Amino acid sequence: MEPDFQALRKEFPVLGRKTYLNSGSYCALANDVKAAFEAYMDDRLLVGANWDVWIGKNESVRSLTATLLNASPDEIAVTASVSAGINSLASALDFAGPRNKVVVSDFEFPTNAQIWHAQEPRGARVVHVPRAGDGYIPLEHFAEAIDERTQLVAITHVCFRNGAKLDIPGIVRLARAKGARVLLDCYQSVGSLHIDVRALDVDFAAGGMLKYLLGTAGIGFLYVRDSLARSLVPTNSGWFAQADIGAMDITANRPAPSARRFEAGTPAVVNAYAAEAGLKLLLSVGTPAIERRNLALTQHCMQSLEEIGWRSVTPPQDERRGATVAVPSRDSGGLSKELMKRGIVTSHRDDNLRASFHFYNNEDDVGSFLAAMKQLRGSFSPG
Ligand SMILES: Cc1ncc(COP(=O)(O)O)c(C=O)c1O
Repeated sequence: MEPDFQALRKEFPVLGRKTYLNSGSYCALANDVKAAFEAYMDDRLLVGANWDVWIGKNESVRSLTATLLNASPDEIAVTASVSAGINSLASALDFAGPRNKVVVSDFEFPTNAQIWHAQEPRGARVVHVPRAGDGYIPLEHFAEAIDERTQLVAITHVCFRNGAKLDIPGIVRLARAKGARVLLDCYQSVGSLHIDVRALDVDFAAGGMLKYLLGTAGIGFLYVRDSLARSLVPTNSGWFAQADIGAMDITANRPAPSARRFEAGTPAVVNAYAAEAGLKLLLSVGTPAIERRNLALTQHCMQSLEEIGWRSVTPPQDERRGATVAVPSRDSGGLSKELMKRGIVTSHRDDNLRASFHFYNNEDDVGSFLAAMKQLRGSFSPG
């Protein structure tokens, strides 16, 4: 039986005021997450310093994230951001030998290309896989780029610009055939689609808590496959990355025998409160049902947009998209502002307006969005 999505809307007060289509940027705030922030404040007011509880919250985020991804807690580093996680991973890789190539795609969020380019002085060679004429990146393009010199294929799951989802199983097969590892940037998919890192067979995955995971900014995760979590040694480090955090040993670096070695300093305690509450709520709904819901809402939205003369650049095939519908406009920023005046919250990137859906959206939200887009077509459709 599907979850009662309509009833769940009551947990997100903003939905009573706005048509909220912005989860790919920042999720709607749930009552439980607000209560978690308040619990932290109460702790500070009434207890003062409650470190055992605070560290427990961070550990809870680690294990809930592991459950979400079908990983073990030892394979999860709780990070400050996706960028922090990828930087820490990059610091553990050696680009001095013949395997110095990092393959990224044209669909990357800047951070997952910039960090690899930042490794060029260390010997890394970054190769970009281009899109085809239809705007998608076919497997053949990855096959041309991935070779025996490839150390890492660092790819986004769902593109933040156009909502397209890459063929991850196909890309992983190509990488494995050449002995390369795979990093999945799943920030635009985690929480909106079902993700199983074991089934996908990726080596690393990075994401954060402020979008579809219902939490907040300033906290994220890096999944590192078990064997690599114990063998790679990051040169980005700190006391919370040590095997024994309490040892206070200043004579050596003794990394934790787990993905915790990819962490650094004191955890973002208040963010852990919020992230824990968001993850618990999300897991209670269940990602397989959320994925079905988001694919249905985005399909309905794209088809209806087309009927009123707006063409989206998001792929129509279910296996090729996430929870965002991207629509080119001659002024995507202006369009987003006009929608906001009508109570519809969206975002924009480049020439595309982005409407991102989550399980708390419904057909009425699609209807309000379409009615406004119909009104605004004359002024904002592409030239
Ligand atoms: C796909 C993707 N990767 C990475 C990031 C950046 O994450 P962070 O700011 O946590 O480094 C974003 C942010 O929107 C994103 O959409």
